[in-house]
Amino acid sequence: MSGIRSQFDARTSKWGISDIFNYHRGADDDFSAHMDLCSNLCVSKDVVEFGFRWGQSTAAFLITANSVVSYDINPCMQPREIFEEAAAVDGLKWEFREGDSLKAGPADCDILFIDTDHTADQIYAELNIHHVGVREGGLIIMHDTQTFGQMKGSINKFMDENQQWGVLDHFTNCHGLTVLHRGPSTQNL
Ligand SMILES: C[S@@+](CC[C@H](N)C(=O)[O-])C[C@H]1O[C@@H](n2cnc3c(N)ncnc32)[C@H](O)[C@@H]1O
Repeated sequence: MSGIRSQFDARTSKWGISDIFNYHRGADDDFSAHMDLCSNLCVSKDVVEFGFRWGQSTAAFLITANSVVSYDINPCMQPREIFEEAAAVDGLKWEFREGDSLKAGPADCDILFIDTDHTADQIYAELNIHHVGVREGGLIIMHDTQTFGQMKGSINKFMDENQQWGVLDHFTNCHGLTVLHRGPSTQNL
C-alpha cells in the first residue's frame, strides 16, 4: 500500500487537493521535485495526462489547473478514491478515464503530460497520436526522460518529423522532465 493511502485512511477530516499536493511534494518521491514547476505551468489550463498511478503529477496539475483528465490503463481504485474526495471538497474539474494511451483519440488540451511505460516505441506513438490535440500555445511534458534514455531518441525523431515542436526545457533531476513547445529548441536533448 502506498504511504499516501495509509495517511488518507488515518485522516480525521476530509482531504482537499492541498492535502494530496503537500503529501506528495514532501514525500521526496520520484516526481516531488517537479511538482512546483508543473503547478506553475498549468495555472488555469486544461490538462490531459497519461499515467496516473498514485497521482503525484495529478496533484501538481490539479492544484492550479482549470481541469485535469487522467488516463491510466489500470483502474487505480485506491488513489481515485483520494482524488474523488478532494474534487468534491474543492469543487475541482477532475476526471479519471481507464484506458490505453494508444487507443484514446487525440486529447484536446493546453498541457499534454505523458508518463506511461517509457519505451522508445511507446513515447513515439503517444507523441504522434496526441500532439495534434494540444492547442496553440500549449505544451507537451514528459517525465522520466533522463532515466529512460531511449525516450530521447524517439522525442528527437518526433521533432525531426514535426518541426513545429522544439525543446523548451529539459531537467535532468528526479528522473528527467522534458517540456516541448511549438517553437525552436532552446537546447538539445
Ligand atoms: C510512472 S506511473 C505514473 C506516475 C504518475 N504520473 C505520478 O506522477 O504519480 C506509470 C503509469 O502508467 C500507466 N500506463 C502504462 N501504460 C499505459 C498506457 N498505454 N496507457 C495508459 N496508462 C498506462 C501504468 O498503469 C502506471 O500507473
